[in-house]
Amino acid sequence: MTSFCHKIPPHHQGDIPVSNIDPAFPALHGRPDQGWINDPNGCIKVDGVHHLFFQFNPDAPIHGNVHWGHATSTDLVRWNQQPIALYPREGAADAAGAWSGVVALDGGVPTAFYTGIAESEHDSQVMTATSDRTLQKWKQESQGILGMPDEPGIGDVRDPFLFTFNGSQYAIQGAGYEDGTPAILLYRCHSMTKWEYLGPLVTGGAGIAQDWAPAEIWECPQLFEVDEQWILMLSLWNRDDHALDRVIYLSGELSEAGAGLKFLPTAGGFVDSGAAFYAPQVVAGTTAEPRTLMWGWSWEKSRPEADVHAAGWAGVLTYARQLSFRNGVLISEPVAEVASLRAGVLFDGEGGADVPVDERAFEVVTAGTAELVIVDGETQTVVASVDAGQILVDGSLIEIFGTDAAPATERVYPTATSRFEIHAAESTRVAVHRLSL
Ligand code: FRU
Repeated sequence: MTSFCHKIPPHHQGDIPVSNIDPAFPALHGRPDQGWINDPNGCIKVDGVHHLFFQFNPDAPIHGNVHWGHATSTDLVRWNQQPIALYPREGAADAAGAWSGVVALDGGVPTAFYTGIAESEHDSQVMTATSDRTLQKWKQESQGILGMPDEPGIGDVRDPFLFTFNGSQYAIQGAGYEDGTPAILLYRCHSMTKWEYLGPLVTGGAGIAQDWAPAEIWECPQLFEVDEQWILMLSLWNRDDHALDRVIYLSGELSEAGAGLKFLPTAGGFVDSGAAFYAPQVVAGTTAEPRTLMWGWSWEKSRPEADVHAAGWAGVLTYARQLSFRNGVLISEPVAEVASLRAGVLFDGEGGADVPVDERAFEVVTAGTAELVIVDGETQTVVASVDAGQILVDGSLIEIFGTDAAPATERVYPTATSRFEIHAAESTRVAVHRLSL
């Protein structure tokens, strides 16, 4: 069972933790029992331990007063909550929030590079913090390493991301101009903490970038090479349509040009085609963890606000997904370790009759067309439909891996009276497994 940090008391009604009361709570995904979470941050494996940080408001299920929460795992599926890593500090450059970023080793020292918001998100800094190799004893520096860039017309800049190219260290940040054009800003890192602004690496408004990534701000950019293909992943933020429901990738050519780098997008695609997936973080393969891994944030898009407040929690990170690039497209699959959550066969046979599933967390593996349906009284709602593939259900979080390259992350809110059913055609082979920690 996931253990919870003493600083974050579980949200109780009497002696019962919320995870037992709220059938919508995604209990296997290892999030704290209460509070708000958004983006995964600082994902890194150090000394055999996977560390996952996340945007966290411990006090209320709303975005605000953003800290970095922290969880650890040695198998990518059983997570232990750790003490909060980074805090917004009164009077400091992160007073209004310790927003998203990454963790990297600087000469072996775990170092967080995050977005400090002092007052307004239109004026951010790249801040740093260091820890010993437990990643539990963070010291946040009082000064940022970088302020707003000298880039005419720039409005918002955030979410530092580090990568190397031809042996040199670079960084990018997500950005948007005041005129509503999104951009990715490029920096050369003379050392891990001494960055020089080189200019925009990519801007929106035209071409493949505009076709695939229309937005006013490109948030949480991830630039990495997988299967010898450079990928730029972007979360699309739009002021008018603050739907946070599109994360796309551009595949392209990264090359040295002038004083910096050039990224030429050649194609694009969806990272996830579901309605409730945003701000993923990618960790490119290393010798410590050769797979390229990704986590995304799933938000309570369709849950009524009053229900969110009553529940006391909002947001969950997906299971870790493994990325590959095959036949010109980016593929996401759940990591193999998710199979270790199987805790019994609920059904294994051919479809035909509706298969009721009286469980909170389960997996459907189907060789043909199947639907996941939620039934409440007379009402039946199709939650997911796949030609073949896998559906992972954990409370309200539905992760669908069908025959499309992109998975779909969806939400549906089970109640005390609802139940799930699997509907599959007669000759379709279906297996349903209970999932448990
Ligand atoms: C994406 C995002 C980031 C920002 C963070 C703030 O969801 O808006 O751009 O750093 O969330 O919590």
